[in-house]
Amino acid sequence: MLVRDFVNRQLYDKAAGYFAARVGIHRLSAPIDFQSLRGQYEYLARVDALYEANEAGQESWHTPAEILRPFYGRAIARCALEALDRKDLGVGGLTIVEAGGGNGTLMRTILDHLREDTEAVYDRTSYHCVDISDAMLGRQRQQASDGGHSDRVHFHHSSFLTWDGVKRGLLKQPGQAVVVLATEVLDNLAHDKVVYGQDGSCFETRVRVEPSGHMHEEFLPVQDPLVLDCLAHMPRPTLAAASSPSSWFGRLFARAVPAAKEAFVPTGALQFLRAVQQIAPDRLILADFHSLPDTIDQVSRSGSRVPNAPVVQRRSPSGGSGSVACSTYLVPMGHYDIFFPTDFGWLQRVHNARPHQLAPQVLNQPDFLRRFLSPQDLLLGQTRSGFNPLLEDYLNVSFFMT
Ligand SMILES: C[S@@+](CC[C@H](N)C(=O)[O-])C[C@H]1O[C@@H](n2cnc3c(N)ncnc32)[C@H](O)[C@@H]1O
Repeated sequence: MLVRDFVNRQLYDKAAGYFAARVGIHRLSAPIDFQSLRGQYEYLARVDALYEANEAGQESWHTPAEILRPFYGRAIARCALEALDRKDLGVGGLTIVEAGGGNGTLMRTILDHLREDTEAVYDRTSYHCVDISDAMLGRQRQQASDGGHSDRVHFHHSSFLTWDGVKRGLLKQPGQAVVVLATEVLDNLAHDKVVYGQDGSCFETRVRVEPSGHMHEEFLPVQDPLVLDCLAHMPRPTLAAASSPSSWFGRLFARAVPAAKEAFVPTGALQFLRAVQQIAPDRLILADFHSLPDTIDQVSRSGSRVPNAPVVQRRSPSGGSGSVACSTYLVPMGHYDIFFPTDFGWLQRVHNARPHQLAPQVLNQPDFLRRFLSPQDLLLGQTRSGFNPLLEDYLNVSFFMT
């Protein structure tokens, strides 16, 4: 099977995939009171303590939407409202489509903000939550109900990549601005893997799982349309900085095609962008990691970097905030999270390749929050030493917005 099908199975298999079996996104019972913390040390200790408090047997991860609540959602709400201003519709409304909303924290914070600050817009807002996980949708439903927003939130149990909301006419409210939103979703979308030969040839990678459970890679001349489409927007690697494919089969193959170089290609993100293009939103807001520590090429210390290589890790069996990172993505099903850094330059190139697209902007997280939060909010996010997690944590996260 193609690498993306393998990764999808490892993560999303209904019975034994990582998301079905193990993961939850930790929800804070109350927002962190940043102003009561002494400084960076106390902030980090606080986040660490959250990992310790995991539900029994569950791994959980803390996203900026949760840790930096409510400021993160407030900034995104203001960014969404700009789309409405652009439409110049007076008292229009918003249709927000959030892909992969996790606990529903962002949805709750955004709708709370609209209700408090721009009631006329809130009254004409509808919110669509599209999530591949039924369990996560359950949490989103609960959040909407707890916040008193149930009458305007619609829940769709579907992969966003195949969601048929446009076909069903769900988004065509006259005079409304449509905003599509996804935070920390691209990182879990599957990638494919290619290997370049020294002669410029390119091979797609397939994973073979033997009945014994042993897994290895096989290489075929690239032919998958999605992989080819992705590659059209990726620079070809310089083969001087060559590495060998990591598997046994790959090493054999590399003898025939010396100085091969590997790369992961974001086929899941391409499917995501194609789904967004169907919706043709007035604004698209994506946030994700532009770089990650402990990717498989860094852990294997092979010396050469593999573009878009994933992190493959599980929480430390001894508990706490520690994690164990692997040097390969060929891991047993259900135990490991597999997530990828996002190549924002590639996203821009794919987006710009379509005619009549609104020009996208890429901002790192502190710049995004500085732009959309009020000075008062920025002050509320500051600890007593002056350290401000809104501006000084998650420095490897960027926003893409049209
Ligand atoms: C890491 S969580 C991020 C949650 C939330 N956006 C946040 O920032 O806290 C990823 C979420 O995306 C969902 N998800 C993953 N792949 C998806 C897909 N193809 N379509 C829709 N939702 C997806 C997961 O179920 C989960 O709710």
